[in-house]
Amino acid sequence: MKRIVIANWKMNLSLAEALALAQQAIRVAEDMPHVQVVIAPSFVWLVPLNLELRIKPGNFSLSGQSVSQWPDGAYTGDVSAKQLSHLVDYCLVGHSERRRFYHEGGDSIAGQIKQLLAHKITPVICFGEMSQSKQSTVSSQITIDLRKDLVGLSAQEIGRCLFAYEPLWAIGTGMAATPDYAKRVIEHTKQWANEQYGVKIPVLYGGSVTEDNAADFGTVKTIDGLLVGGASLHAKRFAHICERFSGHV
Ligand code: PGA
Repeated sequence: MKRIVIANWKMNLSLAEALALAQQAIRVAEDMPHVQVVIAPSFVWLVPLNLELRIKPGNFSLSGQSVSQWPDGAYTGDVSAKQLSHLVDYCLVGHSERRRFYHEGGDSIAGQIKQLLAHKITPVICFGEMSQSKQSTVSSQITIDLRKDLVGLSAQEIGRCLFAYEPLWAIGTGMAATPDYAKRVIEHTKQWANEQYGVKIPVLYGGSVTEDNAADFGTVKTIDGLLVGGASLHAKRFAHICERFSGHV
C-alpha cells in the first residue's frame, strides 16, 4: 500500500477556495506518485469538485467526512453511502468531532462501516484517547473502544478498512503526540487487530500534524499515513507535509 496523506478540510472553504486548493493537491499528487493524496471537503463541494477536476492522477482521491449508518429513507440531513459512491473513494468514520458534537458511537459506527463497504468506499475509522496517559493504559482503552466500533463486522470487512489514530488531546491543539508515543500505540493496535481478527490493518496518525513534524512521523515505518486538519487548508503547508512525510525532499 502507498503511504497516504488525507486532508480533512472540516467545515471550511468557499467553493472557489476548495477548487483552488484541490488543484494544488492534484499537483502534489502528480509530483509524488508514491503517495496517495486524499482530500475530504464538505459534502456540498463533492459534486462540483468531481465535475471540475476532470484530470485526476490515480494517486489522488476524494473522501467524505461522515456518512449515514442507514441505506436510505427518512433521515433528514443525512447522506448515504450509495449517494457518495460515485463521488469518493474514502470516507472518515467516527471522527472525534462527530462523536463529540453528534454523539456518534457504538452501533452507528459499525453501521456506517458496513454501508461504506457495501458501496466500495474505504472507511477511515478514527480512534484515540481523551487524555494523555501511560501508554499501556491508553492502548488497552483503545482496543476496548475499537471492539465496540467494530461490533458485528467480519474479519474480512475489517481487513478492508483504514484506521486513523488521533489522540483527542492532540487534535487542533498544536500539541502533536511524539512520533514515539504514536508508534507505540499504533503498533499495539496493529498487533491487537492481528491477534483478534487475523488481519493486518493500516494505521494513520492525526492530531496537530504540521510541516515541522511530518518528517519525524515519516521516519516511523509502521505509521502508514497522516490525517491532517488545520495545516491542510494551506496549499504550501500541505505540500511540505506530503513531501516530508514521504521523504521526498
Ligand atoms: P488537526 O486536525 O490537524 O487540525 O489537529 C486533525 C483532525 O481533526 O483530523
